[in-house]
Amino acid sequence: MVQAVRGMRDILPADARRWRLVEDSVEEIMHGFAYEEIQLPLLESSELFARGVGEATDIVEKEMYTLADRDGDSLSLRPEGTASCVRALQENGLLYNQTQRVFYAGPMFRYEKPQKGRYRQFYQVGAEAYGFEGPDIDAELILLGAECWRALGLSDCVRLEVNTLGSGSARQAYRAALLDYLTPLADQLDEDSQRRLTSNPLRILDSKNAQTQALLASAPQLPDFVDAQSQVHFSELLALLDGLGVPYVCNPKLVRGLDYYTHTVFEWVTDALGAQGAICAGGRYNGLVERLGGRPTPAAGFAMGLDRVALLHEVVNQSVVSQAADVYICFGSQQHSSAAQQIGLRLRRALLGAGSGLKVRVHMGAGNFKKQLKRANACGASWAVLLGADEVEAGQLTLKNLTDGQQQRVPEAEALAVLMASGK
Ligand code: HAM
Repeated sequence: MVQAVRGMRDILPADARRWRLVEDSVEEIMHGFAYEEIQLPLLESSELFARGVGEATDIVEKEMYTLADRDGDSLSLRPEGTASCVRALQENGLLYNQTQRVFYAGPMFRYEKPQKGRYRQFYQVGAEAYGFEGPDIDAELILLGAECWRALGLSDCVRLEVNTLGSGSARQAYRAALLDYLTPLADQLDEDSQRRLTSNPLRILDSKNAQTQALLASAPQLPDFVDAQSQVHFSELLALLDGLGVPYVCNPKLVRGLDYYTHTVFEWVTDALGAQGAICAGGRYNGLVERLGGRPTPAAGFAMGLDRVALLHEVVNQSVVSQAADVYICFGSQQHSSAAQQIGLRLRRALLGAGSGLKVRVHMGAGNFKKQLKRANACGASWAVLLGADEVEAGQLTLKNLTDGQQQRVPEAEALAVLMASGK
């Protein structure tokens, strides 16, 4: 058998039901905040990510799935959504002289070392806002995340970490000072940090290596370089979060792995998933639109990793996910299979129309009632509809409650009323 590609997962039906619940809840919150959906291509020109995410980032340096198309153009599977989102809005004239609040959902691709919570194809839901200077939009984006955790019952197991990187020039000044300090100590740094010294020195701050961290204790500190205007932006953001009742921890070492951030950066982390604790991350990226050829446009956003959010949801809410079917239609003999399908169709239309959320599955193939009821239980149904010769003749059906075993023979409309009353 040909196997799945390493790092690319199948989300099997039982997990996909949880996935759907999580994604639907998140998208409902996005709609509730009046963010509008945008759909973006999976393939973009490689240059977009080199310029957008940054040549010196791990993502662009080592993790992109890049291919040459038949014309020889270099294309990459998107490793993230922000650069594409800027490209799409810019290309379609939706950034200049206007504001935008959008969200997207879909798979992203990074050639990382796969482990639990880290995959080569993973799924993000991201939100981005353009044209807003003030810290109020940073607060709104953070609140959006907080409301998602609330809706999913995850608030108690996530923590918000926030930091400010300052303006682009403050960040550059800090980078230079950090380099001056670390370069003479290069041979004492861990291997990854040595590499980052030339490519992306700020990332050394979040090294997990104890010796590197000990060296960093006396390094220049980022907050000392942050410009006054950024400090004001950051304190206003914190005041807004206080007002909204969103708890946070200030983490001056939070720098993020993508190059486009300025000012606010944040991460939602959990301790319940082991090493891959970041479930959602983002920040402000005021320079990106210009870097990609547009006019200067303030921008901020975040993306959550749905794989990790679903894993966390499973840890916290083991049993809340729906069943494969709620109503299972059984029939006594093959000649009633068609009647069963017709009842199934009428019930589905009525239940769907009433927004009951109930799912109806019709038995297929042979088997006596006993065997069919076994199937009904196996797919988690709470109700069975039994259709024997008597029922068909009387134009009725038997509705069996699979939880308490009670059953009643009733006209279809009455059965429908009982089902609707039991709906979600
Ligand atoms: P990021 O931190 O690279 O940011 O990814 C955001 C989230 O995606 C992470 O916190 C994590 O939950 C999830 N994630 C990343 N890589 C993987 C992986 N290999 N497997 C599973 N989950 C993963 C960005 O992508 C930015 N575009 C976020 C942003 C939007 N900033 C501003 N706007």
